[in-house]
Amino acid sequence: MQPRLRLPAHRPSPYAWMMESTALDWTPSSWRARHAAQSPTWPDLEHLSRVEAELATKPPLVFAGEARRLQEHLALVAQGKAFLLQAGDCAESFHEGSADSIRDKLKVILQMAVALTYAAGVPVIKVGRIAGQFAKPRSDEFEERDGVRLDSFRGHIVNDEEFDADARRPNPERMLAAYHQSVATLNLLRAFTTGGFAALSRVHAWNQEFVANSLEGKRYEVVADEIERALQFMKACGIDLHDDNALQAVDFYTSHESLILPYEQALTRRDSLSGDWYDCSAHMLWIGDRTRQIDGAHVEFLRGVANPVGLKVGPSMGVGELVALVNALNPHNVAGRLTLIARMGHDRIADKLPTLVQALSDEGANVVWACDPMHGNTFVASGGQKTRRFDDVLSETAQFFDIHQGLGTWPGGLHIELTGDNVTECLGGGSRLAEGDLDLNYTSICDPRLNATQSLDMAFHVAEFLQRYSGANGARSL
Ligand code: TRP
Ligand code: MN
Repeated sequence: MQPRLRLPAHRPSPYAWMMESTALDWTPSSWRARHAAQSPTWPDLEHLSRVEAELATKPPLVFAGEARRLQEHLALVAQGKAFLLQAGDCAESFHEGSADSIRDKLKVILQMAVALTYAAGVPVIKVGRIAGQFAKPRSDEFEERDGVRLDSFRGHIVNDEEFDADARRPNPERMLAAYHQSVATLNLLRAFTTGGFAALSRVHAWNQEFVANSLEGKRYEVVADEIERALQFMKACGIDLHDDNALQAVDFYTSHESLILPYEQALTRRDSLSGDWYDCSAHMLWIGDRTRQIDGAHVEFLRGVANPVGLKVGPSMGVGELVALVNALNPHNVAGRLTLIARMGHDRIADKLPTLVQALSDEGANVVWACDPMHGNTFVASGGQKTRRFDDVLSETAQFFDIHQGLGTWPGGLHIELTGDNVTECLGGGSRLAEGDLDLNYTSICDPRLNATQSLDMAFHVAEFLQRYSGANGARSL
């Protein structure tokens, strides 16, 4: 694929020799000597080993060069020259891998990216929580109903959500199923993003009918009309639109939480070009807020792979802890290597985030700061459903931008849980959902997601925040 953003040619890192010495005490299996929080209790360890051995023979899902390219794009974000949009399901489902659902999720992400790129004039780096987002950390190891106690549901890569002893028993075969569903999903995504579906000339086609009738959908149509007119103008000027790869395709990357380490290790391969190890299960992997112990297995594993990595930063994170994690995960301070994903909650972000951002800025740490306004704002509605208020999500995001503006740092990205379907899982927003509507179409197997209209609503707000930020900080040279 042709580079679409102006990027420096890839050069071997000047720190390669230091990396080599770091790698001396790291191997793809060195995490096994550490405690892995949130690990399922596999009932048959030999079965697990057999599956790991089989997975290790499978082709990689992504390639080292693609992961390096994402890291270069994220370096632009770290420098304040681009914006990261990371979005997708809370947990992908084995029962929902249809072409339609993948296509509709992509449509929303493309719509959001268009709104952000057009309104804010910043390149948007698109990363899906997709093609591998199958594992969930849980606050309770067991779930009890009517005196029956079973393993908690940990995502389809481990067990099934049905409350039944067989369904809840962790089964390593599921790792193979997760791999195969990821292969199929990624195959379709590659076709959609490079085969014409994502071409800017199709900007109107991503507006699904149920979205188009909403206020946000109409606002999107206006942007789409303007883009179409601009394309017509360029065509009239003699530019061959079909010939221009930047207009025809998008770079779309995959990511998921690196939680089930036997799976991640089995897909970790040595790149023949650089000699570095890459976790080829996705372009980007992140560490959750519950598995970020500095001496734990998850940090140990990700510190040694060369992919760009993310770290969720929740309200209990202390400054000293964060600095230690940043040093462990990005010892050579490479821009684009580390994305910090703050998930504080709308009522805590003002209190917690500024100190952390300031401390890293004082240290000169090259990191991307992204805002996850979903996970700190979950509550149980009166009807018993897990939900989130659109206004809380928006408020946390607005505060994230204000904090960065106040400190002169770059609010680098947005990390959200969404679906392309017309679900009723989050309250308010474009679709003005009330608590009584939650049961109409609640299909998430885990956390509540923004539906397509609510997601578009978010994108227009964030585009405004970006415009305001750029205005306040002078014109940005892009
Ligand atoms: N390739 C450019 C980009 O990714 C322009 C582009 C093409 C685009 N199709 C798109 C942007 C769909 C957003 C959405 O930014
Ligand atoms: Mn979630």
